Amino acid sequence: MDFGELVQTRRSVRGFKKQPVPRATIDEIIALAKRAPSSMNTQPWHVHVLAGAPLEVLRRRNMEAMVGGAKPNRDIAIHGEYEGVHRERQVDIAKKLFAAMGIARDDKPMRTDWVLRGFRQFDAPVSLVLTYDRRLDPGAVCHFDLGALCYGIVMAAWDRGLGTVINGQGIMRSDIVREVADIPEDEAIMTCVAMGYPDESFPANAVRSDREPNESFVRYIGFDDA
Ligand SMILES: Cc1cc2nc3c(=O)[nH]c(=O)nc-3n(C[C@H](O)[C@H](O)[C@H](O)COP(=O)(O)O)c2cc1C
Repeated sequence: MDFGELVQTRRSVRGFKKQPVPRATIDEIIALAKRAPSSMNTQPWHVHVLAGAPLEVLRRRNMEAMVGGAKPNRDIAIHGEYEGVHRERQVDIAKKLFAAMGIARDDKPMRTDWVLRGFRQFDAPVSLVLTYDRRLDPGAVCHFDLGALCYGIVMAAWDRGLGTVINGQGIMRSDIVREVADIPEDEAIMTCVAMGYPDESFPANAVRSDREPNESFVRYIGFDDA
């Protein structure tokens, strides 16, 4: 695929085949993604790749904690509820996903089941936990750097027939992630990326999210051409 096709066809994948992902493939993906730019070439990232038994423990414990009413415990500051246009876009993608999955608005058990899937990283066979050097807190610039790395991972995976979903829900309990993956205290946990071969029969995988037209968020200043 050329770059444009790669960008246009990529979407988040939330249903995976059980098929394991070869370690060499993941390493190749990370080798490409690390060509991402970073502030002053600081490369402040670390990637902890989980599969098998440790990942099963992580998803079970993260899910149980959240179901048991534990509060999210993230290493990074998180905003409160989305409002205004951000809330509208959040609701729009949720509606699309629920419609694809046949989950009715008032079907509480199925909606809860969907949330639990998120806490379980959608049962993906691999999870990449992205962290940065904590001494760079309060972050912002290094968060930006990790975003670049993360998009590189997502795109290089897609180019190899692998699906991903960046998954804040999977690391709601950063303390559990740290313990299970043995992540050193001097690293701050940013996010995780669930990865695996897409289950083509999983309806939500076909959902294409919307984007605003350029005119609504882009301004050109000083151009001669219209
Ligand atoms: C920082 C970040 C966190 C995300 N967390 C979740 C999540 O917890 N659960 C989920 O289903 N999708 C999550 N996503 C995926 C977004 O919902 C998705 O990227 C967005 O709806 C656009 O859809 P697309 O990726 O298919 O283009 C996250 C994406 C980002 C960038």
